[in-house]
Parts: sequence; structure tokens; C-alpha cells
Amino acid sequence: MTKPLIHLSTDTTSLLIKADQRLPEMLYWGKKLPEGTDLESYFHGNHRPVPQARIDSDTVLSLCPEHARGLFTSPGLEGSRQGDNWSPEFSVEEVLQQENSVVFSCRDPRAELKLSVHLKLNPATDVLESRLELTNEGNAPYQLQKLTNTLALPVAAREIQYFQGRWTHEFQTERKILDRGGFTLENRRGRTSHEHFPGMMIGDTGFSETAGSVYGFHLGWSGNHRFHAEAMSDGRRYLQAGELLMPGEMTLAAGECYTTPTLYSTFSSEGLNGISQNFHRHVRSEIVSFPEPGKVRPVHLNTWEGIYFDHDPEYILKMVRASAEIGVERFIIDDGWFRGRNGDNAALGDWYLDTGKYPEGLQPIIDCVKEHGMEFGLWFEPEMISPDSDLYRKHPEWMLHTEGYDQVTIRNQYVLNLQIPEAFDYIAGRLDALLSEYDIRYIKWDMNRELVQPTHQGKAGFHGQVEAYYRLVDFVREKHPLVEIETCSGGGGRVDYEVLRRTHRFWASDCNDALERQAIQRGASYFFPLEITGAHIGAKLCHTTGRQHNSHFRGITALFGHMGVELDPASASEEEKQAFAKYIALHKSFRGLLHTGQHFRCDTDVKETQAWGVVSQNQQEAVLMYSQFKMSEYALAAPVKIPGLNPDTTYKVEVLENSSTDIYMKQCPPWMTETVTMSGALLGQVGLMMPVLQPESSLLIRITGV
Ligand code: GLA
Repeated sequence: MTKPLIHLSTDTTSLLIKADQRLPEMLYWGKKLPEGTDLESYFHGNHRPVPQARIDSDTVLSLCPEHARGLFTSPGLEGSRQGDNWSPEFSVEEVLQQENSVVFSCRDPRAELKLSVHLKLNPATDVLESRLELTNEGNAPYQLQKLTNTLALPVAAREIQYFQGRWTHEFQTERKILDRGGFTLENRRGRTSHEHFPGMMIGDTGFSETAGSVYGFHLGWSGNHRFHAEAMSDGRRYLQAGELLMPGEMTLAAGECYTTPTLYSTFSSEGLNGISQNFHRHVRSEIVSFPEPGKVRPVHLNTWEGIYFDHDPEYILKMVRASAEIGVERFIIDDGWFRGRNGDNAALGDWYLDTGKYPEGLQPIIDCVKEHGMEFGLWFEPEMISPDSDLYRKHPEWMLHTEGYDQVTIRNQYVLNLQIPEAFDYIAGRLDALLSEYDIRYIKWDMNRELVQPTHQGKAGFHGQVEAYYRLVDFVREKHPLVEIETCSGGGGRVDYEVLRRTHRFWASDCNDALERQAIQRGASYFFPLEITGAHIGAKLCHTTGRQHNSHFRGITALFGHMGVELDPASASEEEKQAFAKYIALHKSFRGLLHTGQHFRCDTDVKETQAWGVVSQNQQEAVLMYSQFKMSEYALAAPVKIPGLNPDTTYKVEVLENSSTDIYMKQCPPWMTETVTMSGALLGQVGLMMPVLQPESSLLIRITGV
């Protein structure tokens, strides 16, 4: 052991890890320590004391806590060989540090297990990637139950922000105090899930968008997971996140190895904006890679809420022309185009064009789309099989289920077992054939149900199905490298950094209600930048909530994302069409800023309001959306402090759009009607005075350096 103390750092953050002979332990993670800090002095008189009447030596809360070392908390590794080797004790054998990454190779010779701990702190994004790897070095199989990343937290980390939801109600933000005991979120749905998004923030009590020390976490895995935060009885705290394995799901044969999903973590001393900005930088540089880098994100028209299953090519051609008129750049035919798909109760698996609906094939539509300067996209749900399908009639054994039990249907469908090579090849072949036959530049890749009792070759098949899904997407990308893919799962049920390594956009929600979208898109913004967040203008009467909003509130809300329109433009009124065209043009004029700038959320003092925006990397340009959700409790609104501007720059502030039909104020703040300039310091610290808006409306504000 040559280097007992590892110091990984970026411009703003330090991470200190101690590895003597025992598994490595995070000693410190936070604001950067000054250059030249004498780290060794930590060992001379400043180490942890040993409490009375407990284990007589120090216990290590390592990156993989061990019961064998006297830690009575949730271990990092659980498993056995038919009962033996259930409580291993690892020793570090080698530490390999390369610039900002380090690998600790550890072994328990008695248990014949090797554990590698990988850490990489990205100096440009401030995101720490960590993962563990377990290898069975014995001859007997090792039944792995759990292998999970554990990161120690400071005692001050007492409040959790987490995310919960359901279909049409994703990314809802919740808070909880972490004290004496644990808080666990388990996802057993076989996809990332709407319910328990694999991400969490833990920080000082009351941390906000702009203040407080906060740690952010996200697990890149599209299957089952478990997040566990705990305040131990001795006061120490940690966060644990990893894949949730079912009993018997993961057995390592001699020489086999299991690697955990990557845990992405980041620290900010300036509240949640710092967390999301680090995550966004990481997604932009390390996770999402576009087939044509630098290409603008084309504005979508998606047919789903416009026509559902009612596909008539003549009418679709009308929709294509109407889409082009309002400025759409990519036209996507959603569900309903394949053989027998007249409702959501049949045909999944039969990936052949419905020639009854499309007697001339898809080509005339694609030609028309291209003639109007747009790209063509198509919806698929490759991992599914309908009981009422030719595929199921031919291959009922391809359904993912447990022999001897009835499989439930969800949305009238079963899951196709992609772990069966023939099923995989069939579906890969169909995707390849359609993508080869037609000029399809975009796939909306859907996945509309959970996995229930999935068994493959006699054991739980969650993990295997997720891996097979990744292989299938990888196959498509390799064969058709220019095709962009959207990840969708009944809306935002499958978005995480591992699926985003292979896709280019996610559908945030099946709810196009602008009011709901304000909360959904805000929740998603903690992890995902705007250029990959699908946001559509839906119909005036929202299909999933029954609420009505004017085109301006819908338009302003959909601006902040990868924008699209999801309705029937051919039957929209002239007035509505003009509004769509206006917001699409506005989006185009801003998308450079929205899709490359720094996203921020404001701390608003009035609870019925919300504000977020984007400032350009050179701080010369910003756009801010200020929204009022409900009737204001007070007659006056509070000023909104705008973070991220340059304090020394003078800015012009102007209203770009206002979705309120009227503002019930005798006098609005003068900047709303006059040309006014203000310093970045004033806007950031004193704030911009706001009017009280009508409920369910937004103001769009442009801020330009002069
Ligand atoms: C899911 C998607 C929708 C739409 C339908 C089609 O619900 O989230 O956007 O594609 O499937 O069936």
C-alpha cells in the first residue's frame, strides 16, 4: 500500500479517499481544498475516535460497507455460495490512480471473491462516476443478491429531495428529512419507472435552487433499482444506490463477473442549480451523442393525439402540409400504422405496414414529408407482443412469463422475451427491414408496460431483459447510425443515463397539459438538459386532464425543451395555427440558447409561482419564464432573483410574450412596457419586480447584455 490517501479534485470540488488495507472510504467530499493542503496531517491526530462500549476499533463506512468489519448497516455486497462466504472481508491489493480516476482492486482469498471499486471524477463536469465489479474466483457458483455503490455523506446532509410520479404525472418533486434511520426507494417494475425515478438530492436542511450544500445522485440503469439513504445510529450518513436483484437472479459461475450500473454523483455548494448544471454538462459531453453533432433539434409534429389509430394516408398528407406551414421540421407517425393495429388491444409484434390503411405504402407520405423539407419518423414498441397478434399465435412461447402461472396483461399486452435469441433476431430483423426500406430518420421507441413475473431459463429475468433491450437498441444504431431515437415508456417511464447513451431524446410525459408540464419539466430539469426533453404543444382541451389553456400558455411552456406539436394541425383553427407558427418560430430563434446554455431555476418567494430560464455560456443573453399556477394569495408579487447573470453586465429586460389575457394590476412594473436596463448584480441580488398574473399563465422575458 503505497498511497493511503487519494485526492481527486476539479476546479471546485475535492474528494478524499482513504484506503489502507481495508476497503476505500470517502473521508471528505465537498468544496475544493486549497492547493498544497497537507493531507497527511489528517493521519496525525485528526482521525475518527472510537466510541465507548462498542467494537474496540474504528469501523469503516467504506464504498462497499462490510458486516465483517463491524458495520451494522446495509452492506454493499450480499450473496453466498449456498450459505457459505456470506460475509466476506476484503483487503485492498492494488490502487491504480490515473489522473482523475482510481481503481481499487480488492480480494477476499477465503471467499474467493475479487472486488474492484472504480471512481472517476470528471474535471470538466464535476460528476463522479462510480461502479463496483465482483468476480467469482472460486469454482463453486456464487449467488449474488446485492452489489451496490455506497457514498458517505456529511452529518449536515439532513434533507432529501426525491422524485415520484405515475403515468401522466412524472418527476414530481418531494422533500423528506433524513434522521435516525433510513429512507428507501425500491423500483421493481423492470423499467426505470414513472414511480421511483432513480435520482435523489441530499443536502443541508432547507437547501434551495440557489443556496446550500447539496449532493446529487443518479443511477444509470433502466431496470429495477434500490436507493437507500441512512442516518446511522452513530450519526454517520450515506447514500446507497444500485440494481435491485431478485432472489436467484444473478449467479456468478467460476470466473464470471457482475458490474453495477454506474452511479453518477455531484456536489454543489450553491444549491440545486449547481447540481443540475453539472449533470447537464455531463449529459452533454459524456452521455448523449447525436448522430450528427451540432445539428439543431428539429421541431416535431407527432400524430398521436391528433389522430390516434385512425390512419388515412390522404388525411395524413394534409397534416404533413399543415405541419410544414407552421414550421415543423420532423413529422412522426405514431402508433397505428402496422397490420391489425386499430386499437391498443392487438398487433404488437406484427411489424409490417398495414396495407389496408396504406395501400400505396408509406413512400408517398415520406416523399411529401421530404418535399416539404422535413424528416420522417415512425413509432415502434419492439419489446411487446399482443395476445391478439400473428406473432403470438405463432410463438406463444416468446412471451416473457413464468411457466405454470397466468401472465397478466397490461394495456392489453405482454412482453416479448428478448432473451430468446430467435425472438431477438425476429424483432431486430423487422426493425432493420423497415429502416432499410424507408427513409426513416427517427424512431419513437416506446415501452408501455411493466415486467411481471419475468422468468428466463428458470430464473428471474429482469436484468437479462434490460441488457437484451440495450443490445437491441445498439444493433439498430450500428446498422442505422443516422437514425435518432427517442426513449418513451408511456411518457417518461424509461429515461436514465444508461438509456440516454443510446438515445437522443426522451418523451417526458403523456400529459400535454401546460400546467402539469410546468411541474414535470421542472422535475426533469434536475437531471436532463432541455435539448433532449420532449415538450409538445397539445390540443386546447387537454386529453389527459380535460383542462383548457390558451395557445400562448401552451406555446411558452413547450418552448423549454425539444419542442413539438402533438395535435391535428389540419383541423386546427387559423388563429391556433398562427399561434403554433409563432411559438415554433420563437423556439427556433432561441433554440441555440436553450439547447446549449446554462439552465437555472429561481427560488420564488410566492408559492403559486415558478420561474426558470437559460443563460448563454457567455452570459450575454438569457430567457426567463415566469409562471403563475394559482390565484395569488397576495395583491403583490415578489421580485424574482435571476441567478447566473454577470453582475457587472448591464442588461436590457423586455417582455416577449404574456399568456395572460389581462393583467389585473393598476400599474405593471415599468420594465414591462418601457425600455429598461439593469445590472446583473441588481437582477441577481435584488431581483426583477413581477406583476401578479392570471392563474395558469406565463410571462416570457428576454434579458440581453447591452
Ligand atoms: C404511449 C406513448 C404515447 C403514444 C402511445 C401510443 O402511451 O407514451 O406518446 O405513443 O403510447 O400507443
